[in-house]
Amino acid sequence: MEIVSTVSDARKIIKEWKKKGLKTGLVPTMGYLHEGHLSLIKKAVSENDRVVVSIFVNPTQFGPGEDYETYPRDINKDSALCESAGADLIFHPEASEMYPDGSCTYVNMTGLTDALCGRSRPTHFQGVCTVVSKLFNIITPDNAYFGMKDAQQLAVIKRMVSDLNFDINIVGCPIIRESDGLAKSSRNTYLNAEERKAALILQKSIFFGESLVKKGERDAAFVINSMKEIIESEPLAKIDYVEIVDMNTMKNVSVIQGEILCAIAVYIGKTRLIDNFILNIC
Ligand code: PAJ
Repeated sequence: MEIVSTVSDARKIIKEWKKKGLKTGLVPTMGYLHEGHLSLIKKAVSENDRVVVSIFVNPTQFGPGEDYETYPRDINKDSALCESAGADLIFHPEASEMYPDGSCTYVNMTGLTDALCGRSRPTHFQGVCTVVSKLFNIITPDNAYFGMKDAQQLAVIKRMVSDLNFDINIVGCPIIRESDGLAKSSRNTYLNAEERKAALILQKSIFFGESLVKKGERDAAFVINSMKEIIESEPLAKIDYVEIVDMNTMKNVSVIQGEILCAIAVYIGKTRLIDNFILNIC
């Protein structure tokens, strides 16, 4: 496995692979890898001849006052994990390599990015779309892997690929959880012992909401309110949002039908955590 930090070094390697007709998979990450990331890498390894993992804490997707500076980083541990998962190349650029002085072009989306996380983090998806477009142009993968943990991000990337005619297949991968049910996240490391316990309220409300819908409940407001009640029972939790939207448009639904996303964002202390369930109701 190789590690490169410049666009030109990455391109040299990719060019050789293309000459040999090798199929390439890309797993974009911000590093501090856990089992969730590794599940994407392993799937990519099983479906491609070569796999690139990008590790880049992308400054443009963090808002003012968010955790860009403190976001956890450990490239040595990440490299060992990538290698053991079977990756062939790590692309690990500096911010100045991705955004050289004078850089002023952004990929902006409307509609899909206004809802859910886009409402509380208004510049977030512009940063995500911009960096993912750049990674797609640098690596030119056949397949790119994204987790359903960030369900809105997955929907946004799929839409962007379709709208901008990227010739890339987007693969969505299921949420990987800790043994007690908390969705794995690099940000879980911010939680102290008491907060870690309190964070279980996210999956408790998600599992309850999902079971209500599976049992036949179709009133979105009823499901949302039941989930909110559960979250509000935890004193350390503060709700950012609990919503049920159409998976393709991210528009709120009042009746649960078709492919829906129930997504929540909750502060546990100062740490903002997200979780969701997706169901297809015929
Ligand atoms: P990051 O948060 O590092 O996540 C990288 C990928 O891992 C994303 O596709 C995310 O959905 C997936 N992932 C994270 N936790 C997961 C879990 N518990 N189960 C399954 N998949 C999980 O998402 C980003 O980085 C960035 O926004 C990025 C796309 C790299 C652009 O900067």
